[in-house]
Amino acid sequence: MTTTDRRRALGGILYGADYNPEQWPEEVWPEDVRLMREAGVTCVSLGIFSWSKLQPSEDRYDFTWLDRIIDLLHDGGIGVNLATATASIPPWLSAKYPEVLAADADGSTYWPGSRQHQAPSSPIFREHAAKLVTQLAERYASHPAVVMWHVGNEYGCHLSLDYSDAARDAFRGWLEKRYGTIDKLNRAWGTSFWSQRYGSFGEVFPPRKAPYSHNPSMTLDFQRFSSDMLLECYLAEREILLAAGATQPITTNFMGPHKPTNYHQWAEHMDVIADDLYPDPASPTRVADAALNRDLMRSLKPGTPWILMEQATNAVNWRPSNPSKLPGQLAAESAQSVARGADGIMFFQWRQSKAGSEKFHAAMVPHAGLETRAWRETVELGATLAGLGELPPPGRDARVALVLDWENWWAIEQSDHPTTFDHLEALRVWYRELHRRGIMVDIIPPERVDEHYQLVLAPQLYLLRESGAAALKDFVEQGGTLLVGAFSDIVDEFDHFRDGGFYTQLGDLLGIRFEDFTVLSLSPGPGVTSVGFDGAVAGNGSILAESVDATTAEILSRFADGPAAGRPALTQRDTGRGSAFWFVSIPDEEAVRSVVEHVVAAADVAPVVADLPQDVEAARRGSMVTVINHGYVPASLSIQGTDLLTGEILTEFTLDAQEFRFINMDKNN
Ligand code: GAL
Repeated sequence: MTTTDRRRALGGILYGADYNPEQWPEEVWPEDVRLMREAGVTCVSLGIFSWSKLQPSEDRYDFTWLDRIIDLLHDGGIGVNLATATASIPPWLSAKYPEVLAADADGSTYWPGSRQHQAPSSPIFREHAAKLVTQLAERYASHPAVVMWHVGNEYGCHLSLDYSDAARDAFRGWLEKRYGTIDKLNRAWGTSFWSQRYGSFGEVFPPRKAPYSHNPSMTLDFQRFSSDMLLECYLAEREILLAAGATQPITTNFMGPHKPTNYHQWAEHMDVIADDLYPDPASPTRVADAALNRDLMRSLKPGTPWILMEQATNAVNWRPSNPSKLPGQLAAESAQSVARGADGIMFFQWRQSKAGSEKFHAAMVPHAGLETRAWRETVELGATLAGLGELPPPGRDARVALVLDWENWWAIEQSDHPTTFDHLEALRVWYRELHRRGIMVDIIPPERVDEHYQLVLAPQLYLLRESGAAALKDFVEQGGTLLVGAFSDIVDEFDHFRDGGFYTQLGDLLGIRFEDFTVLSLSPGPGVTSVGFDGAVAGNGSILAESVDATTAEILSRFADGPAAGRPALTQRDTGRGSAFWFVSIPDEEAVRSVVEHVVAAADVAPVVADLPQDVEAARRGSMVTVINHGYVPASLSIQGTDLLTGEILTEFTLDAQEFRFINMDKNN
């Protein structure tokens, strides 16, 4: 049974929350189920942090309470997303086997008392996790209430890099598997530098505390290793579930563009993509940044709906200051997920905790009970989602791709570079402008670029594998429009320069030859802090000013001032069918705006809805177009279609603040 089938069996979009009944006396449970039904809840995630309750000591399991609550939920028609309960180890485990505890780069131990303090590569942790999961799988694999399996929880959220002895041993094994011989490792890491040559894998350590900077090829491998260790934990549990005959979809919850875990590798092992997202109500870029996360989730499994596994009904507890959402914002943000491919809207959590770190975190049922905005909006949203019926699967609606590559992200943000980079922010700047224009964007690695796209943006693609470069070249050959941003095509997958330095793979395609770059002064005072452009580009650039010659490219804009004054800033090379653009520096919003204007026109990319009013977002999902007014004042729109919720035929209409419409654009309906 696919997730979509399960969803249908539950009647529409999954709606629910993390449910932690063990925090409440059993008398509350029937009331919980009753209220869940009132709110339109169809599914809850159960047991995520229940290991110590399910296994109070090494030789004792207690599933009786879980049996009771699962049956109760089932009787109430609520599906269960059953956790493997291994997200956080119980105190008895670390007390008896302290070697399961993770350590930081200084060798300090992460002690119990919080969560996720286990070493992911610890064989003892894995063995105990496997035992628990085996019990759960055998007991519940064929329970009719279980509609999905939730393995672990937010892998690597708090602890993604572990330097413990368990990690040391596993890192050596991982390297041996990757390189086969120590000579190969020495070559890959360039260990002739600083007397780092290794005689055997047993001499290698994780990049623990050192007097000066670590070998960057090693730290890049350590990032790969650390992502792999977490994925191995997931896969081991998935295997156990499958071996026990589980037929439900198996997943874990992602965290948007989460740097430590390479979701492009993880995604193929998820039956359905699930994501947690907590947009910061105080952030002025909240809407576009959230849209990027959701587009990433859709792009991880094209054509398949994903699930918003966690969001907050109101304020969270874990930022330094935690503003609440505006009235209506919860529904508007949920609509954004559905618009961008989600078929499940879930929360953390059902009932607000009385004790513990998250007692101030909002929930569907707040401390103040049912006479609250959170509860009213929860019930309303449940009814809205239930009214939607079956939605078109997210198709390949985006004709624009933004390149995000985890290995590049790890590599570009290493130390000892000309300057420090905030790669995610660099991507977001471009995405926000596309989002403002109502253009759909997929977020993909370079290898996934194909001729379905009209325009591909690759800012800061510092580490570019041969396979990625080949896909980008092919794309332009086939007629696509490519924009490459500064500090791209510099190193290979070992973080080594290629012979010839910069742009060795894309230079001919772009028609440029790179000479050098200058880092602009970052603080006011003597020196240049930003540079302007002439010609086609408005705005300014900061941080970098590259000196480049156009060999075969046309120069559309030059640096107007600064150390590279007169040198090309925006170039274009037409290959016959396609076009390759190159743009310098770290551009500000205005510069991005004018470059996007240019390349969108060159690629002839159409927005979902033209001329969107300010703060109105538009997204397409197959035959459905969603428009959401995230602003504070009403906005007028003119779109022809049928309102999916009310059946109203639309032409001209107004969206109030935080209001949205799901519109069927299919002319036959
Ligand atoms: C997530 C986590 C949940 C809860 C939530 C609070 O990171 O998976 O267990 O802590 O945050 O916002």
